[in-house]
Amino acid sequence: MNKVVVPALRDMKARKEKIVALTSYDFVTTQLLNEAGIDVILVGDSLGMVKLGYSSTLPVTVEDMSYHTRLVARGNSRALIVTDMPYLSYQTSAKDAVKNCGLMLKAGAQAVKVEGGAEMISTIKALLTAKIPVMGHIGMTPQSVHLFGGYKVQGKNKAQSRKILADAKALEKAGVFAIVLECVPQTLARKITRALRIPTIGIGAGVVCDGQILVVDDLLGLSLGPYPRFVKRYADLRKIMSQAARRYASDVRQGKFPDALHAYS
Ligand code: KIV
Repeated sequence: MNKVVVPALRDMKARKEKIVALTSYDFVTTQLLNEAGIDVILVGDSLGMVKLGYSSTLPVTVEDMSYHTRLVARGNSRALIVTDMPYLSYQTSAKDAVKNCGLMLKAGAQAVKVEGGAEMISTIKALLTAKIPVMGHIGMTPQSVHLFGGYKVQGKNKAQSRKILADAKALEKAGVFAIVLECVPQTLARKITRALRIPTIGIGAGVVCDGQILVVDDLLGLSLGPYPRFVKRYADLRKIMSQAARRYASDVRQGKFPDALHAYS
């Protein structure tokens, strides 16, 4: 299979081919996702919650994101790598945004993702001038958690819904190559997906989007939970890993490990 490049996503939408995206934060997971044929790997700032133990994405730094981008890039062969820009790395000025986003390309990403709608247009244009491809992210944007008063579905009333649709159109006009739609009603996601030529990648936005993304730790059942309604767990790795560690502990305590098979004579 060919390496996925930025313009390929638009072609996939034109061919009505679904785009499969997942997050990854490390070398081994990235290798596995490549073996599974995942098209887009997002080094998400969800890193803060699922790997670094924070209660939100807000404490994640540029250094965290560039370190994990390097790990992912080393494990990657085919997928398009998009790195999420952490809180305050792109909101302060276009100059800061270009510098910090550029660091992610130097670390091995092929594109970056920034949260926000029309208010981000001048920053996005500056990034494109610096030849940095940008993925948008609207709807329930986790870096706005305090403004929203929690992780709540966005776009449920007419005013919100109109604003999110207008943001999507403004982002497309500014030149983003795809947009993540997070936690919006399906009817709104359908309207946006039909209105745009660039693909929508949904998370909690229904099957109507051009592609789907999930946090890999949620899909694998590694996160502690509670899980949002939109997550489907395809495995229960937390249980499997915990059972393996308990069996090992029990074997060591009972003198059953190492046995003759696992020792040198
Ligand atoms: O940080 C992240 O993992 C994300 C996805 C959930 C879209 O932004």
